[in-house]
Amino acid sequence: MNTQVAIIGAGPSGLLLGQLLYKAGIDNIIIERQSAAYVLGRIRAGVLEQGTVDALTEVGVDARMHQEGLPHDGFDLLFKGQRHRIDLNALTGGKRVMVYGQTEVTKDLMQAREKVGLKTIYSAEDVAIADFDGVHPKVSYSLDGQRHELSARFIAGCDGFHGVCRASVPADRLETYEKVYPFGWLGVLADVPPVAHELIYANTNRGFALCSMRSMTRSRYYIQCPLTDRVDQWSDDAFWTELRHRLDPEAAAQLVTGPSIEKSIAPLRSFVTEPMRFGSLFLAGDAAHIVPPTGAKGLNLAASDVRYLARAFSSYFLDKDEQGITQYSEKALARVWKAERFSWWFTSLMHQFPAEGAFNQKVQEAELAYLVSSQAASTALAENYVGLPL
Ligand code: APR
Ligand code: PHB
Repeated sequence: MNTQVAIIGAGPSGLLLGQLLYKAGIDNIIIERQSAAYVLGRIRAGVLEQGTVDALTEVGVDARMHQEGLPHDGFDLLFKGQRHRIDLNALTGGKRVMVYGQTEVTKDLMQAREKVGLKTIYSAEDVAIADFDGVHPKVSYSLDGQRHELSARFIAGCDGFHGVCRASVPADRLETYEKVYPFGWLGVLADVPPVAHELIYANTNRGFALCSMRSMTRSRYYIQCPLTDRVDQWSDDAFWTELRHRLDPEAAAQLVTGPSIEKSIAPLRSFVTEPMRFGSLFLAGDAAHIVPPTGAKGLNLAASDVRYLARAFSSYFLDKDEQGITQYSEKALARVWKAERFSWWFTSLMHQFPAEGAFNQKVQEAELAYLVSSQAASTALAENYVGLPL
């Protein structure tokens, strides 16, 4: 089998890249380790930057998002028991974000891919890549007990943090930067109306809380928890009680509780690999970097990586111009590090750090008070939240 771009991984990065390449007339095949149903079963964040919305619109995968997604013009910061609105729209000259779950984005992209007959190999076992230092890289995998090989001009490593692509690069050719946070997020998804029309990010002396949503009838809530906690230690009741303690009285009174339809604990991590290109192999999305979820940059960064990458491949195939592929790593990393900085900063500002004590809490509260009273500081937050330009 032969293709122009072999894409490893059918997460948002791989699927969006596939669609962008298809629009540009570039042939691509996706090889995914899991089944489609498994990929769609993963619950992830749900706030899309304008640039991500634009990319989905560009590839014509925007109908359901525009119908069912919720455009948000602001969010609340809650600290010292009071909520303060960050008016994203006013602070950024009219920009906004779209609340639409990553699962839905993935589903829409999968359907669009199927509709135009693009090939995706699901449930591929023992995926391996080879010869990416040359111009004829290869991907091999097993399916139903048989080994297959795929030849391509480029490989796009869109296979997430635990994928095979980054792991196939000799360790001495990459530099990694990592920060692990001393807490996790306990998340609950429930079919209850959201506590407020916009998201609430709460800093409290009991720890961080986030009130988010997937629709006007489905809510997504998170609370900071110790890394040693296990999901089975948290009954639904215990979760709702703790969340209520972390809200202001008005929001606590508005909170509608119900049975959880998903409950999980996720650790928080910042991670970057440099560079993002190794010969004919290009990393994109979680394969190259992880952000802590505060601010919901993960999916948006994946989307900006593949937009750079699709342009680079297009220039190469359509105009015989190599500048895009030569500059991909540097360009993508410049934006990645800005999102890493923002996600680290927002995480540091909003969470309780067990080792830091009361001094840290006071400094956080002072910074938050400054943030909501200073136009300059609120603007910096808003600009990053809606997404920096490509
Ligand atoms: N071979 C083939 N596919 C693989 C392999 C492998 N060896 N390893 C992993 N994969 C697949 C995974 O099963 C997954 O479907 O690659 C896909 C990677 O998808 P994501 O982890 O969603 O990463 P990405 O597409 O970069 O999306 C980034 O989505 O995962 C969230 O938090 C993340 O929001 C961020 C965004
Ligand atoms: C979510 O809805 O899952 C979500 C929203 C905003 C965040 C993180 C997660 O900052």
